[in-house]
Amino acid sequence: MKIIRRTFCAGLGGVTALAGLGLGPSLAAPAPLVARKARVQLAPEGYPDTEVWSYDGTIPGPLIRVPQGARVQRQLVNDLDEPTSIHWHGIRIDNAMDGVSGLTQDPVPPGGTFVYDFAVPDAGTFWYHAHRNSMEQVGRGLSGVLIVDETMPPEVDGDEVLMLDDWLLDPDTGAFAAPFAQPMMMSHGGRTGNLVGVNGRYDHALTAPTGARLRLRLINAANARIFSLRLQGMTGWTVALDGMPLEVPEAADGAITLAPAQRVDLIVDVTATPGAAAGLLMGMNDDSWNALVEMEVTAGRAPRGTAPAPLPANPNTARPDLAGARRLEMVMEGGAMAGLEQATYQGETLDFRGLIDRGQFWALSGQAGLSDTPFARLDRGEVLRLGLVNQTAFPHAMHLHGMHFRQVRADGSLGPLRDTILSIPREPLEIVLVADNPGKWLLHCHMLAHAATGMTTWIEVA
Ligand code: C2O
Ligand code: CU
Repeated sequence: MKIIRRTFCAGLGGVTALAGLGLGPSLAAPAPLVARKARVQLAPEGYPDTEVWSYDGTIPGPLIRVPQGARVQRQLVNDLDEPTSIHWHGIRIDNAMDGVSGLTQDPVPPGGTFVYDFAVPDAGTFWYHAHRNSMEQVGRGLSGVLIVDETMPPEVDGDEVLMLDDWLLDPDTGAFAAPFAQPMMMSHGGRTGNLVGVNGRYDHALTAPTGARLRLRLINAANARIFSLRLQGMTGWTVALDGMPLEVPEAADGAITLAPAQRVDLIVDVTATPGAAAGLLMGMNDDSWNALVEMEVTAGRAPRGTAPAPLPANPNTARPDLAGARRLEMVMEGGAMAGLEQATYQGETLDFRGLIDRGQFWALSGQAGLSDTPFARLDRGEVLRLGLVNQTAFPHAMHLHGMHFRQVRADGSLGPLRDTILSIPREPLEIVLVADNPGKWLLHCHMLAHAATGMTTWIEVA
């Protein structure tokens, strides 16, 4: 556990290390982020190590941390055998830097480079990951954490980044079980692992004294697993979701659901006494709870006990006016146990068989995969109310690039800002967003096997 923490923090400060040193232009080139193969011990000691695809040789990739309003400047160097690109998940980013191969940029070929250079308007917990053949590239390890620090960060005794993931490994060889494009997984819930871990370790652990107040930043980097989490030996409050502060922190005394790509920032007070069980528990299929992150509690003082103050609001996050909003509906269909009679794929209308032959199992409003024309064209500043109708038998973590949205609840009230929301079969879901970021933005399921087999579309903001 100590080793991974050192590895994980190695990227700290690397982003701006060369800035302001007055070095010549050649030396001032942004720090590289090298996509490459590496061997990492994902499985417990005694099992073989795993060949991963990584950023800079670590799982997760280097932690990128910048102050709010600063620029992230990194040069992607592709040392993989296939093209790739990097998406900066949750950042309200300049469209040209969004990293979607084939929509916002050309894929970076093996041996190629691409400079990402963008401002980060919002403070919060974000992440980055490959956005080309994502089901496999992210599944093999191409992801990392991006933290944007508040100008006035909350008062805490520690700030812990916990990137949750799972891996489907062959225990005999340590290798990822192949293939990633597996029809049974793609048409069902997606690829879930047989090993769950945090920060690249199956046994990542924390140490804190009684009474410590910690910020925990949870990020779900898994391809398909929906984590259900609970605090043990801690009293906590949710202070942000998907990087965006809640107006009022909410007690995190029940189960915390973290769908793929979602983040939750918690502020917790350690209430356990030394030696008592503490940590982050994970709900299992049989309704039991297992330790996901154990916390060793040392002697301290009495917990503060009072709720933390809200994090400072990010800019430009006012609630939209629903009156006059444009209303659209997106029907999600397909997958096992539901059926998809026909859909358009690459300009052709195909029946169920034809779609399966092309590896497509899902559709969004009759369209499987990206089309030349967007699902919707919006004027800049337009308010969109989008109903998501889940006619499948599976939950889907629907993610919009470039802009956050809010849920419109049944009573008309608005939920917190999010960039990824879990849609449950047959439960009506409606979101609202202000189309204030121009460009071409993907809207897709973050169960990456679903995204690869139909559940990807895009909207365009003029
Ligand atoms: Cu994190 Cu297109 O996604
Ligand atoms: Cu899905």
